[in-house]
Amino acid sequence: MKGVYTQPMEVDFLVVGCGVAGLQAAITLSGHGTILVVSKGDGCSTLAQGGVAVALDESADGGLHLEDTLRAGKGECDPEAVGLMVREGPQRIADLVAWGACFDREADGAFALAREAAHSRRRILRAGGDATGREIVRALRAEAETRADIHWLADHFVSELLVSEGRVVGAVLLPAGASGAGRARVVAARAVLLASGGAGQVYRRTSNPPTATGDGIAMAERAGAELRHMEFVQFHPTVLADPYPPFLLSEAMRGEGGVLCNERGEAFMARYHPQRELAPRDDVARAIWSEMAATGSAHVWLDMTQLPREALWRRFPTIAATCAQLGLDIASRPIPVAPSAHFMMGGVRVDPSGRTALPGLYATGEVACSGVHGANRLASNSLLEALVFGARAGGALAQDCGGHGPDGGAARAAFGRLAARRQGPVPRELVDETRGILQNVMWDQVGLVRNGQGMANALAWIEGALADFPYDPFDADATACLNLLTVARAITRAALGRTRGVGAHFRSDDDPVAGATARAS
Ligand code: SIN
Repeated sequence: MKGVYTQPMEVDFLVVGCGVAGLQAAITLSGHGTILVVSKGDGCSTLAQGGVAVALDESADGGLHLEDTLRAGKGECDPEAVGLMVREGPQRIADLVAWGACFDREADGAFALAREAAHSRRRILRAGGDATGREIVRALRAEAETRADIHWLADHFVSELLVSEGRVVGAVLLPAGASGAGRARVVAARAVLLASGGAGQVYRRTSNPPTATGDGIAMAERAGAELRHMEFVQFHPTVLADPYPPFLLSEAMRGEGGVLCNERGEAFMARYHPQRELAPRDDVARAIWSEMAATGSAHVWLDMTQLPREALWRRFPTIAATCAQLGLDIASRPIPVAPSAHFMMGGVRVDPSGRTALPGLYATGEVACSGVHGANRLASNSLLEALVFGARAGGALAQDCGGHGPDGGAARAAFGRLAARRQGPVPRELVDETRGILQNVMWDQVGLVRNGQGMANALAWIEGALADFPYDPFDADATACLNLLTVARAITRAALGRTRGVGAHFRSDDDPVAGATARAS
């Protein structure tokens, strides 16, 4: 991918985000016009360890994968979207293999399939043991490099969508480290696809990289798009606990026999769920939370010591090496883990082809809510979602946006209107302080376990902070902070609005009958 642009830029399609969903969409769009893929960093996809769930033997497994996904989603999935994902997954994997993706295989050449929580059978493809996201992104990038109409702009922050007469006509880009209207670039496009990932940085501890600031969700809301299921934030049960960095220990470790023990050394999962360590992710995360509270500890232990050292290093090379660098030997001692914010099941409301209700705006991957995850995502369904719905979104852009070119005049006029609303400069101390307080407020009041009073207090603080926060779409740090506040408000409002707990939205003030049902399901 190549191409250096100077203002004014006009492209047919602007794709925001360079992870699996964005790259898959760009490749599908190739041949239908110029495509500019913009990214501010590497994103979350490259960090994905566990794998990609797929019903390769569709006749034997398609129905079961659908059932497992719906059951994990606790009644909140959109069955039509789940059906599409399960049915179209095998073809997307075949494409990836044709583009050079190397998935791990058994000695006989068959795919090596892993099992993770809440899957009724082994169906998870992996690469490099625990480096699946990295390999998929590598293969997609290599394929995108072969397409002359896909261009790439790294290290650029997309700060705002440009809207003219109810239609998205482009976006504002800021080069990394730049601020000021003079450094901003206007991109006019026939359509914009958000594939910008999640918002884990809303919380104090998260498995997500620092770039996961919910930019796409917040921009879309400001532009007038609708959000959905924002109350459903998935906490991954096993992330390295304080004082270590929040590095993910894949669910596949429990799939290979890892056991969770509390501070007293007791294996506790049997007391919480018949599937024990392989219960749905929200159940495991809450069980850990309860044990931490009961034992007064800031973590539980993930014990892998029953597996031979050599097998552990072969199966989980990235995890074993990262832990070793931190002085933790996964083969000889249990590892301290605690739940951390991991994945947004909600996001910008889209149809099964990534269309939002706003003309010219599409969304796919974690930034979008297609309804496949419901209240609790099934492990390793996120890469599959990105592949399937990324391709579907690319197809929809190609189909919908043929009749007109990019409207540079409308984009520049919309940019002028934004510039007129600017209130900056925003003091750096305000950005840092607001972000730190927000992460604590969300962790304490709108986290894994919530209640009405705590969430109402959180909402009051967020709304006050938003009212006091100057608007400056030409300052990337300030806009990322504004985006975090905006996403936090959407999560908190949605969580307050859903009075009954379900899946990842667990309310300690739910009535006893509903609470017992949620705990038992
Ligand atoms: C994991 O490997 O546990 C994370 C994969 C996922 O979030 O599905």
